[in-house]
Amino acid sequence: MKRPYNAKDRIIVALDVPGEAEALELAERLRGAVGLFKVGLELFTRCGPGIIPKLRAASEESAGIFLDLKFHDIPNTVAGAVRSAVSLGVDMLTIHLSGGSAMIEAAREAAGADTLLLGVSVLTSHSAETLHETGVEADLVHQVARLVGLGKARGLNGFVASPHEVGALRSAFGDSITLVVPGVRPAWGMSKDDQNRVMMPGQAIAAGADYLVIGRPITQHEDPALAAEWIGCEMAGTIL
Ligand code: C5P
Repeated sequence: MKRPYNAKDRIIVALDVPGEAEALELAERLRGAVGLFKVGLELFTRCGPGIIPKLRAASEESAGIFLDLKFHDIPNTVAGAVRSAVSLGVDMLTIHLSGGSAMIEAAREAAGADTLLLGVSVLTSHSAETLHETGVEADLVHQVARLVGLGKARGLNGFVASPHEVGALRSAFGDSITLVVPGVRPAWGMSKDDQNRVMMPGQAIAAGADYLVIGRPITQHEDPALAAEWIGCEMAGTIL
């Protein structure tokens, strides 16, 4: 997937809001200001698939949709879920790489060429201890590299990476992969909220991020479009 040229088109806004009204208001206020909206488990489970065409309409088709439901099940079930997501017209969606080769391949075939299928490796909420308690003896860094390598070998070209991992993954896999990076905070003094390891937008782009997932610094700003514009400026400084 070719990365967009404009900084604003590389911003994905996480719509982590409890209901349809809040999500549609944000989509309207961010019309033309960002590249995609991320719909996660909370919003999707509350509002259902109908939220997707409504978001598109509210933004007057100016933004794409990233459906972040992190599918993980038997290959046949995941393939069916991916087909359902593709039929909704989403532009990006996520699967857990820990589902293994057969699940990854089934998802990839179901996604087709027009939807960017992103692999999620180890959630950032994991630590060495929580990996260990689920039977994974490898350390975190190696487990991330192992799962991304598995995804790549099975034909995936996109991955979600924490700011901590993005540089190493870009070095290891070059420009052949698309990296989507959450945990980003702008320079102008927002709190880290509950993010532990944050990077600034320019730093994340310089480290090799293609897209940045940003939630609260934009969604909780009194002028979300202005916040996105400032973030775009920070990114533009390091886009070559
Ligand atoms: O509000 P904030 O910018 O922290 O939102 C970041 C978004 O990215 C949230 O939807 C969060 O679930 C998601 N995310 C993350 N860290 C990861 C993976 C996803 O923050 N490692």
